[in-house]
Amino acid sequence: VRNTKSMIGHASKWLSSAQSKSLMHVELLARTRDSVTTSSGTFIDFSSCSYLAYDTDSDVISRARETLEAWGTHYCVARSRFSIQPNIELETGLTKLFGANSITFPSVTSCHMSTLPLLASGFSPTGKETHPVTIIFDEFAHASMQFLIPILAQEARIDKIRHNDLNHLEEKIRIAGSQGYRSVFVGDGLYSMGGHAPIAELLSLSNQYDMLLYLDDAHGTSIRGQNGRGYVSEFLGNRSWPECLLANFSLGRVDISFIL
Ligand SMILES: Cc1ncc(COP(=O)(O)O)c(C=O)c1O
Repeated sequence: VRNTKSMIGHASKWLSSAQSKSLMHVELLARTRDSVTTSSGTFIDFSSCSYLAYDTDSDVISRARETLEAWGTHYCVARSRFSIQPNIELETGLTKLFGANSITFPSVTSCHMSTLPLLASGFSPTGKETHPVTIIFDEFAHASMQFLIPILAQEARIDKIRHNDLNHLEEKIRIAGSQGYRSVFVGDGLYSMGGHAPIAELLSLSNQYDMLLYLDDAHGTSIRGQNGRGYVSEFLGNRSWPECLLANFSLGRVDISFIL
């Protein structure tokens, strides 16, 4: 259950404290590839998630400039109606790079908003049959997925496990299975607050119980895996990529969610 009022009550003192230490709500006056300037000085930038700094790469910038000149800053029509050619070119390139159908979204959050309700509905990206679903969240799954719980709960059962606790997960999958529900596990590849998911073990549970995995690999993409395909990809071995791979660009980093 979402309780925004209570969350504001709990969070505001920490937010104010971070703000007073210039850790939040900071205005940047300038930046380079690896530094930022505030009114207090210039600092090495450890905050950006653009791990390979492609957003400051001169080839990327000049290609972006050409595209802006040809297409304007924003073609303001729903993607479901028209796709501009550079967007299709981008998705074709990503499909080749990742070896799986790729769709781009303007942010990771919008990727989750589009995908998780489909999974909650029992729709399977690899088959036509639908199942009643239990979505099992790792307790540390990123907030951009957990904030959808009230919506997902309208079509699926929602459950939660202790962080990376595989025994707890297996127990939940068994209970769901015995009641005729298919499990979908939701977590991060590399957790945004530290640590990583036990991908090999999750894949093995997924095979054993026909469970879907939905893993947000925002922080694993570009720095891990062959050609930057991400942390999760390192564990797939000869297993073919999922038929449906959701890719997501956000402020220069590549964010990706896998449905396995
Ligand atoms: C793991 C993870 N997923 C999703 C998001 C949300 O990304 P966005 O701001 O692109 O919606 C973040 C934010 O940093 C993140 O760390």
